[in-house]
Amino acid sequence: MLSLKMTRDLSIVLLVSLLLLSCSRKNGLSQSSSASPDSINTADSSKAGPAAAASIRLTYEQRQGKHLYTKYCAVCHGEEGKGDGFNSYNLDPKPRNFTDTIYMSAFSDTRLLETIREGGRGVNKSPLMPSWEGRLKRVEIEYVVFYIRRFAKSN
Ligand code: HEC
Repeated sequence: MLSLKMTRDLSIVLLVSLLLLSCSRKNGLSQSSSASPDSINTADSSKAGPAAAASIRLTYEQRQGKHLYTKYCAVCHGEEGKGDGFNSYNLDPKPRNFTDTIYMSAFSDTRLLETIREGGRGVNKSPLMPSWEGRLKRVEIEYVVFYIRRFAKSN
């Protein structure tokens, strides 16, 4: 009698958990099947579209600059120049947003070169902006400036 009741209880428990399982499966499936085509599409169009087109249009100098920027600057300034590199939360003041057209147009190329060469300390800005004089050649700093200029352009 006892064992019969136990098996019955057990089978009810099993049934309920099976039901729950299949429900959650269904949810998971329907969620992912409805979400994945969209997210793949948007990821594709936002990544391959403008980004790919932009990198095709880079000049030789800008491509060199991009390489150097990605290697040395993106940790703080962000891949896309928005001042949101993964190290930026440590920084106060934050690296500024290179995509801000108005802000960037106030900088002459000479001033940009100087800031990068001498670092924040050399131009009365935050000493957390390192000096690149020792690491990058003059022409390399110019490449980086060519590349940074692109962030504030829409094309
Ligand atoms: C350790 C983090 C860090 C790295 C790496 C770094 N920067 Fe900076 N940079 C900063 C900070 C912080 C500022 C903001 C200084 C301020 O506003 O006082 C800054 C400011 C600048 C500015 C001046 C813009 C402004 O708003 O005044 C330029 C240009 C610049 N960085 C270029 C570069 C380039 C090019 C590289 C790579 C070669 C680089 N930075 C690497 C932290 C960094």
